[in-house]
Amino acid sequence: MASILGGFVRQHLAVIVAGVFLVQACDSVYLDVHIPLPEGCVKYNALLANRLLRRSNSHEEVNLFSTHQPHITLYLADFELEQTDDDKVLNQTRVAEMKDDIEKTNFTQILSNEPSCQLSLQAAHNDPSLFYFVNGAYTMLPVQKTDCLQILSDTVLSALKSYIRKPVKVPSWVNDLPESERIAAINRVEKYGSPNVKESFSPHITVGYDTESSEAFQAVTTSKIEVMDKWNSLYKPVQNECVDEALAIALGRNGEGGTVLANARMGYWELPKKREQKSPGVAVAEQ
Ligand SMILES: *[C@@H]1O[C@H](CO)[C@@H](O)[C@H](O)[C@H]1NC(C)=O
Ligand SMILES: *[C@@H]1O[C@H](CO)[C@@H](O)[C@H](O)[C@H]1NC(C)=O
Repeated sequence: MASILGGFVRQHLAVIVAGVFLVQACDSVYLDVHIPLPEGCVKYNALLANRLLRRSNSHEEVNLFSTHQPHITLYLADFELEQTDDDKVLNQTRVAEMKDDIEKTNFTQILSNEPSCQLSLQAAHNDPSLFYFVNGAYTMLPVQKTDCLQILSDTVLSALKSYIRKPVKVPSWVNDLPESERIAAINRVEKYGSPNVKESFSPHITVGYDTESSEAFQAVTTSKIEVMDKWNSLYKPVQNECVDEALAIALGRNGEGGTVLANARMGYWELPKKREQKSPGVAVAEQ
């Protein structure tokens, strides 16, 4: 029973994760509100994973060293911003309105109960020593879902949901979900243009994407797992110290495989600086 259930959950997660990207498989311009990874341990380890994947697989499409911005997505959707006469050119008036709506957010206020917005990797539920997962074409590092990240995601959702393209397309994988989840997912798609928000927000860093894997699934997956196991053994000893702080959120254009294009940033908003922790215990320990 437990293993049937485990299998179901695994399969189910696979469907959900595959769905993150299937939503954007058409020609529209998708925009991604995200946390650009700050310089630090988390970014270093994401780049390390990407380098190992790129070295071992010539089909690896993600390049966190030049083409793509290492990031954590807060909200990714198809926003209705194109000029009516040209699908690929954005209406700058509308883009400016959208950016104003992010700008209006008082981040100090919404994060007033969060002393900081920490970023760290999250171990797998069923294996506390595993900090990555491979799912079809994608290799991802799950990120700890903190209140801060959830608040930021929820906030940009409510600021931007009025810009989503209507009518929204419900991705076909949603129809395969069990009924109660299907209804909830359809509801999120209709409201926010994305099923992967609110209770389904699962922050992660995409470090690999390789469409060849779907064809030679077994062999490529096995080699990716070997590479990522090597990465995991390098990451594991530093897991407790590997904590960075989100400095800003940014708006960018979405590339293939859930990436954010590095040279197409459209907006950048700093988060409030971490407030000083007044803890005498810590001060003593530091001397
Ligand atoms: C651009 O968007 C603005 C504001 O939404 C609208 O008034 C204007 O007609 C749009 N221009 C084009 C060329 O679509
Ligand atoms: C933002 O919120 C903080 C805390 O609630 C407040 O002190 C500050 O004046 C606000 N800033 C603006 C620009 O409204």
